[in-house]
Amino acid sequence: MLLNLNDYRQAARRKLPKFAFDYVDGGAEDEVTMTENQRVFDRWQFIPPVLRASTERDLSVNWLGQRFELPLAVAPTGYNGMLHVHADELLAQAAADAGMPYIQSTVSTSSVEQVGALGHQNHWFQLYVLKDKRVTEDLLKRAKASGCKVLVVSVDAVHFGNRERDKRNYARPMKLSLKSYLNIACKPNWVRRVILPQGIPGFGNLTPYLPPQYQKGVGGAAYFAEQMETHLDWDSLAWIRALWDGPMLVKGLVAPADCQKAIQLGCDGLMLSNHGGRQLDGTVSPVLMLSTIRQLIGPEPLVFIDSGFRRGTDVVKALALGANGVLLGRPLLYAMASGGPRAVSHAIQLIQSEIDRTLAQLGCRQLADLSPELLYARP
Ligand SMILES: Cc1cc2nc3c(=O)[nH]c(=O)nc-3n(C[C@H](O)[C@H](O)[C@H](O)COP(=O)(O)O)c2cc1C
Repeated sequence: MLLNLNDYRQAARRKLPKFAFDYVDGGAEDEVTMTENQRVFDRWQFIPPVLRASTERDLSVNWLGQRFELPLAVAPTGYNGMLHVHADELLAQAAADAGMPYIQSTVSTSSVEQVGALGHQNHWFQLYVLKDKRVTEDLLKRAKASGCKVLVVSVDAVHFGNRERDKRNYARPMKLSLKSYLNIACKPNWVRRVILPQGIPGFGNLTPYLPPQYQKGVGGAAYFAEQMETHLDWDSLAWIRALWDGPMLVKGLVAPADCQKAIQLGCDGLMLSNHGGRQLDGTVSPVLMLSTIRQLIGPEPLVFIDSGFRRGTDVVKALALGANGVLLGRPLLYAMASGGPRAVSHAIQLIQSEIDRTLAQLGCRQLADLSPELLYARP
């Protein structure tokens, strides 16, 4: 029975070959940060006030001049095509149906043009900065021309995390091990649904820049790994700020001083994240930094947060601590892998009803009623 987002993880494990499940599910090294990301919410307990009539509730938010129905967004994730054909378009559609933004990754399987062709107003673009400035500039132009409203610049994956689960599934970089191939043979339905219709998925946004030898399948990943700008600094961010004439958010921050600097540099908001525990193992969970960051930057700047959110109660705790919205990463990928777009919509409905029920039980009618006074922090 699929009653919550964690149930979708188990469903995805049954459907996917091991290498694909590990790609989504895994974290860096000992996965300490990834594990802690989900446990950390137990640090706070609710102090529910009673006798506050809260029959009607409103979960809507206003971000950057646009109304959304839920305080949630789909986190940018690369290579979704390994989970389902047209996964990026289907995630964007499910997000539009639910009234939440869809953030498309630089390394998505579909291109920004393909997702943009859906014509939704909820399309945001996540940028990884590449060494070749012309490629970065061109990606931004294409995102704008495709209707992306908001730019999200990810700054926490400049040096890739050491994901050992992935390494164990490969004989050498980009070459699956014999054991992985044998495991794929045990998942004929995945081969039939995901691989036969499209071949090995590629990287839609990068295709125009790929040299011929990298054009096929995972070749794009090898190219991309070489092309990531490793000299990223605050001047790089200022350069991107000047290039993009719309709202811009920075993703991958946990250090309060960095958050303050990003706002001073003219960014419209922050996305606090440790990349779901996929980068530096041992990194603090962003929700632990939230109150400090909010106090430092003041009430105005938009603050999103992700990493480990699985329950409506997790979302409500973060909103009470000062976040404006929460990004969902793996849970929606598990849903996509296990049951396609209907499962994604169902997963969103599940967490929506958990958020709604939590608000009701806290006597709140709207998200603005949430505050730190509703939480007890264990010493
Ligand atoms: C399979 C996978 C691919 C990801 N790819 C990207 C990406 O391309 N760009 C990015 O900024 N973050 C990427 N992330 C990080 C997510 O945007 C998000 O920060 C993280 O998944 C949140 O943690 P959660 O999975 O516990 O919800 C990826 C995460 C996963 C699981």
